[in-house]
Amino acid sequence: MKHYHLTTFGCQMNAHDSERMKGMLEGIGYFEAGEQADADLILFNTCSIREKADSRFVAHLGHAKAVKATRPDVLIGVGGCWAQSVKDELFAQFPFVDVAFGPGQVHKLAEFLTSDSLTAQGFFEFEGFAGDLPSKRARDVQAWVQISVGCNMNCSYCIVPSTRGREVSRPFNTLVAECERLAADGVREVTLLGQNVNAYGRDLRVGGDRRPRRFSELLRAVDAIDGIERIRYTSPHPKDMREDVIRAHAELPALCEHIHLPLQAGSSRILKAMRRTYDRSRFMDRVALIREHVPDCALTTDIIVGFPGETEADFAETLEVVEEVGFDGAFTFVFSPRRGTEAASITEGLVGHEEKVERMQRLVEVVQRRGHERAQRFVGRALEVLVEGPSRTDSARLRGRSRHGKAVNFTGSARAGAMVEVEIHSASSQTLAGEQSLPARALV
Ligand code: SAH
Ligand code: SF4
Ligand code: F3S
Repeated sequence: MKHYHLTTFGCQMNAHDSERMKGMLEGIGYFEAGEQADADLILFNTCSIREKADSRFVAHLGHAKAVKATRPDVLIGVGGCWAQSVKDELFAQFPFVDVAFGPGQVHKLAEFLTSDSLTAQGFFEFEGFAGDLPSKRARDVQAWVQISVGCNMNCSYCIVPSTRGREVSRPFNTLVAECERLAADGVREVTLLGQNVNAYGRDLRVGGDRRPRRFSELLRAVDAIDGIERIRYTSPHPKDMREDVIRAHAELPALCEHIHLPLQAGSSRILKAMRRTYDRSRFMDRVALIREHVPDCALTTDIIVGFPGETEADFAETLEVVEEVGFDGAFTFVFSPRRGTEAASITEGLVGHEEKVERMQRLVEVVQRRGHERAQRFVGRALEVLVEGPSRTDSARLRGRSRHGKAVNFTGSARAGAMVEVEIHSASSQTLAGEQSLPARALV
């Protein structure tokens, strides 16, 4: 019996690719090991979005090297975005790696393992969808669905287009059939994944009816599936966030009241240098449209501080937008130069480390304060919560998520996967706390 151990880094896309890797490995007879020490195959699914991601991973790889020194038969495999981004130097720098593959080549792993050749091999083409492989889901009632791979945007700071290739949508009918299968298998919440989900379907000339599709059509088709009670997606791009998708949030019962709309920066000048293809007013206009059609919608975002050339005045604009919009939450990142990206070659106007840290502190303060204020609208309300398990901080309580994407800690009794109603008693910027409504009102 052979065992694998897989460590995953990075975004939901990677987490989902890992489910596919596991499904595929178990399809060829491997079992999952609890620890690296018990594995015949030590695998990593890597991320390269920021420098920190790289350095953290290289430390892990050092540990795997040490394992291999004591057990030379162990195979070491490295997949994902970091592998793709260093493909030319990978085997020279890390000679103990046996197999390496980019995000587009997950399927080659099985071929490698079942072939006789055991010389080190790398697979770095962009082809096929990991989403078509069998999957081992992490959760029973929640599932990710990959709707497209790659990204056709050209954000000047971002490594993803070079690690995941050009954007290709999976056929409409394939996706609907996948969601139907998931629903039949007990899944109640699906999260549709793509780097720019609202560009979905424009490239489609394949599948059932050989015509381009709109993302809103896909949302409608998934909403119509019996058993799918919640639909989420990530990430939309502000440039392509159109009224049909926004209205869908008001019209489709399963589509959650939460939109993650990455701002990146509040200054139009910096947005231009980032090649985001929208400016501050276009972003604000999208927010206004969302508030008009879905007033209670939670809005979250991603923000980068310290992009080259960002002045104090530019940064002040980011603070203004955060203040004005009142995001329910935000992921905040310090700019990190990535190999091969346009922004990494900018030499003028670089923001110093201390400046970046100081701006980050000021940003986080506003994000948290506004998030806290926004969260107060939930106090006193009864929210539908999908139970995920025991609370992380207090095992006597339960944890779940509201349709707005808020983590909810509550007292009550329900199994993971149940949909319950929770009366919210208090709210912080990160979590809501409350008590499950009387069993008579449980939503089952
Ligand atoms: N496709 C998604 C984002 C994927 S990366 C989108 O466009 O929204 C997730 C987030 O990481 C980005 O939104 C950005 O805020 C951040 N990020 C990407 N590259 C970065 C870099 N070089 N430095 C700092 N943050 C970065
Ligand atoms: Fe990167 Fe921009 Fe594509 Fe997002 S849209 S993955 S930030 S290039
Ligand atoms: Fe995701 Fe990291 Fe790749 S954020 S797309 S795994 S570089």
